[in-house]
Amino acid sequence: MPDDAVMIPLAELPVGTMSARTLADREIVVCSTKDGIFAVDNICSHAFARLNEGRLRGTRLICPLHGAAFDVRDGRALGAPASRPLATYPVRLVDGTVEISMSRGPSTASDRAADE
Ligand code: FES
Repeated sequence: MPDDAVMIPLAELPVGTMSARTLADREIVVCSTKDGIFAVDNICSHAFARLNEGRLRGTRLICPLHGAAFDVRDGRALGAPASRPLATYPVRLVDGTVEISMSRGPSTASDRAADE
């Protein structure tokens, strides 16, 4: 498997769970929600904390260190102390396998706003 892609069987990602992975030397966390599966940076944009050690509540990912929350759908910071978004990664579902690829590279909420 190329290191610029991560593949996870869908059965390993029940709704409400997270899975930390490495994608092209970046730490990412794959979040399974009732709204879909999303991949974002696993390192908080405020300081150094691994977000997979926090909590996933719906589409809100809550940092274990100072409690900032992020929307996993677009990486937006939802509250202090974090103000910068998390990078997000494209997720595809192919034949029961979740694929996260770096083919387009990470993007942020501000990148997507510029694309629109
Ligand atoms: S390190 Fe995540 S909120 Fe401070």
